[in-house]
Amino acid sequence: TEHDLALPVGVTLDRFIMRSQSAFPYATGELSQLLRDIALAGKIIDREVNKAGLVDVTGAHGTSNIQGENQQKLDVVANIRFIRALKNGGEVCAIISEEDEDILYTGNDKGKYVVAMDPLDGSSNIDVNVSIGTIFSIYRRVTPVGTPATLADFMQGGRKQVGAGYILYGSSTMLVFSTGCGVNGFTYDHSLGEFILSHKNIRCPQDGSIYSINDGYYNSYQPAVQEYLLDSRQRGYSARYIGSLVADFHRNMFKGGIYLYPPTQAEPKGKLRLLYECYPLALIAEQSGAKASDGYGDVLDIEPSALHQRTPFYVGSARMVDDITARL
Ligand code: AHG
Ligand code: MN
Ligand code: MN
Ligand code: MN
Repeated sequence: TEHDLALPVGVTLDRFIMRSQSAFPYATGELSQLLRDIALAGKIIDREVNKAGLVDVTGAHGTSNIQGENQQKLDVVANIRFIRALKNGGEVCAIISEEDEDILYTGNDKGKYVVAMDPLDGSSNIDVNVSIGTIFSIYRRVTPVGTPATLADFMQGGRKQVGAGYILYGSSTMLVFSTGCGVNGFTYDHSLGEFILSHKNIRCPQDGSIYSINDGYYNSYQPAVQEYLLDSRQRGYSARYIGSLVADFHRNMFKGGIYLYPPTQAEPKGKLRLLYECYPLALIAEQSGAKASDGYGDVLDIEPSALHQRTPFYVGSARMVDDITARL
């Protein structure tokens, strides 16, 4: 599997993909090409994010997206860039995005894959120079190649993802993904314009003492969640909440910890979206020894029913997720 490959850290993403592909004799290269297209989009968004303060790209864009959120310009730019990179790559026949209500058809009906994405997660952090991220989820289409994609291609369920990952635009820009054989992290080297394998076979610590949750909603959390927060304080845990799921998730993957977005009055089903935030991170969690729960079961086992459906989300170190799940 991927992490058995005797590839040393320092190899480029391209080399890693080629080596992984050769490990799968029937791989025809489309998924490899799709991963390259995603990496390219990440490089382009990295450039936009890093110059955001300079070209008046930040600040509210005036329009609002399906979530009714005030769309930041960078959200719009990231959405456009990702869609264009995937359209030009040719492997993707359709896309769903946090920023668009309906399925986006690329015109590549011969493409074998569909992608669900959050082009820019943590949008409230864009104009204050705090880490933000992209989250993506890949399925092999179930409708016939050569015909237009349909809703069925996106409603396959989390365990049917053939790949998933995120790009974190932080102090460095990292691409972290899995195609079902472990999780690997690539750091973007701006001088080379390449993602370099920097974190092989990432394993999330089984336990931790960091909890990420918006304490401001304490009064609207269920009693079990309130108790969990009081216990966390008793135990002397550290509270770390960045406001960007990708950044909190990534830190917890290395230091151990849990991220919680429970139901609130404003969002009785939780705020986070199943198809392009929770499923992909749940795949990364499962592939790295971590866990992702909706409070009752594994997120990957949730039956999808709508493109933008929301779910409560508890993700991170397995023992910490078990602890909160046992209380709900
Ligand atoms: P998005 O920016 O894609 O709309 O989602 C942001 C998410 C997640 O990244 C973050 O942890 C959470 O929303 C913050 O929400 P609150 O401000 O309600 O805590
Ligand atoms: Mn998001
Ligand atoms: Mn977003
Ligand atoms: Mn949003």
